[in-house]
Amino acid sequence: MITSDLSFVKDQLEKGEVVGIPTETVYGLAANIYDEQAIAKIFSTKGRPNTNPLIVHVKSMDQARTLVSYFPLKATLLAERFWPGPLTLILLKSDLISDAITAQQSTVAIRMPNHSATLHLLESLDFPLAAPSANPYNRISPTCAAHVEDYFPQISILEGGNCEAGVESTILSFDGDEVVLLRHGAISIEQIEEVVGRILDRTSSESLHLAPGRSKKHYSPLCELIISYEPLFMLSAVQQKKVAILWFKEVKIDSPKVAINHILSPSGNFKEAAANMYDALHQLEKSGVELIIVERLPNYNLGRTINDRFERAAAK
Ligand code: TXA
Ligand code: MG
Repeated sequence: MITSDLSFVKDQLEKGEVVGIPTETVYGLAANIYDEQAIAKIFSTKGRPNTNPLIVHVKSMDQARTLVSYFPLKATLLAERFWPGPLTLILLKSDLISDAITAQQSTVAIRMPNHSATLHLLESLDFPLAAPSANPYNRISPTCAAHVEDYFPQISILEGGNCEAGVESTILSFDGDEVVLLRHGAISIEQIEEVVGRILDRTSSESLHLAPGRSKKHYSPLCELIISYEPLFMLSAVQQKKVAILWFKEVKIDSPKVAINHILSPSGNFKEAAANMYDALHQLEKSGVELIIVERLPNYNLGRTINDRFERAAAK
């Protein structure tokens, strides 16, 4: 059920239920961080292995400080610059954080979301909210309440409109004085480097367990998906009956072999493309196409984040 009734949603959370919440990135599947059974329900609802830790959503910097044992200077600078907003910081946890949330690790992922309804909800609660994205494990992330309802008709979902950023938060960890990128997201590397100087990109490091948002296969539609700078070349090689091409800003070639041409941003704007990306995948999947060919974006700023998501959606 989709609802705008904040006090109802608050009540559900206080009773130990899992609910859908809007954020500026994607919708989350939220529960009380101090309620073990509610946390277990997040994992079972999502079908997520319990070795994959959750992000804790806070209402303030002060609340964040209670959940960590140490806030490095660079993390403080980044939180001051980007919170509330789509930046997740991996920090050493305090005793308030249970092993179920962190999957036994000594660190916890924290962010302050930038969505007014969810900030009001967090203000009204005595506890922070653990929330992964509200999609079944490895499927397309949800960017509106209806996407969440399609996946999880049994839960209550707080209505919050379409997600403004439309792509998950950027995840950073701290290694001594180094800032380490673990997941590309709605804040670009360029924006982070303006605050803390050069950072290390470990988003494709296979050796680290850590963030399965980085695991190869993720964010996937049920049909086949490939990504290429030249969708036309790919088209000549495929036999499928029903093909869609997902273009960045314009239809470069309108072939009779293509059932659907879908454009992410007619003005060629990365932010707009990111905001439309998951919804485009949801729509194309529903249309029954057998193959989606995605045009690769220029690889800088948010273009890098968008390419990252399509590469993972394409992974076998
Ligand atoms: O934008 C977002 O971050 C959304 C909204 C709902 O806030 N949430 C989200 O959560 O994307 P999720 O669970 O789908 O992705 C979080 C990623 C996972 O890949 C998880 O493994 C990683 O964060 N993560 C969580 N805690 C971690 C930790 N202590 N160390 C390393 N990675 C961690
Ligand atoms: Mg996710």
